[in-house]
Amino acid sequence: MRLVAAPDRTAVAQHAADVIERFVSTGAPTALGIATGTTMEEPLDEIARRHRRGSLSLALTEVYLLDEYVGLEPSDHCAFRKFIDRRLVRQTDLRPDAVHSPDPHAPDLDAECNRYEHDVRNARVGLQLLGIGANGHIAFNEPGSAFTSTTRVVRLSEQTRCDNARFFPHGIGPPATAITQGIDTILAAGELLLVACGEHKAVAVSRALEGPATVSVPASAIQLHPKVTVIVDSGAASLLQGAPSRHLEAH
Ligand code: GLP
Repeated sequence: MRLVAAPDRTAVAQHAADVIERFVSTGAPTALGIATGTTMEEPLDEIARRHRRGSLSLALTEVYLLDEYVGLEPSDHCAFRKFIDRRLVRQTDLRPDAVHSPDPHAPDLDAECNRYEHDVRNARVGLQLLGIGANGHIAFNEPGSAFTSTTRVVRLSEQTRCDNARFFPHGIGPPATAITQGIDTILAAGELLLVACGEHKAVAVSRALEGPATVSVPASAIQLHPKVTVIVDSGAASLLQGAPSRHLEAH
């Protein structure tokens, strides 16, 4: 595992964008797995800036989302699909039909989960971006999710719904359920890039990186992957113990 400690969010975004740029700039078609949420805003905005400067193209990239809420209207501003539309499709040359996500409006959600699982596996995602929830979740795999889990409908924890309430209009919280790629689906990607910012992520980051690999901390499953980069700011890194001398790359 490569761990990069950056001083602040801006530096984290630069490092994350560097990894993404290297991945999408080979001149060959690529499949990029994307996470949503606050942590991803600056890295994706930096990707858009690099595109505007002419240094980066997403024309050959297919994008696969990790998860999506169930129960929002298709046009809902809070849907993760809309997040990608706003931050990448409208800002770069990423084709709208190159964005793939589970359809939370499908009449048979279990069949839709199977379809999406199949599509993601077939796509062979080369680089998977990940955020981390304050309770250690990745995508919407909440504590207790099996490391063998695949794409499915899940019930969100109260903590996750509280944490994500800020994205929703006042008084209307996030839906209770979502479709998420499973942990095994995520681990099938060629490379993982986990990004975390802020002291409120410090406990989750230290348990995920330095605790045992356990289903009570879903993000700890990344320890089982052979090619992982973790980029953290000083707040998110603040509880890491052995890092500086062992594997921390300071910037
Ligand atoms: C959300 C998403 C995750 C995301 C995480 C962190 O609930 N399902 O994919 O990585 O929680 O979100 P944020 O970056 O907003 O803290």
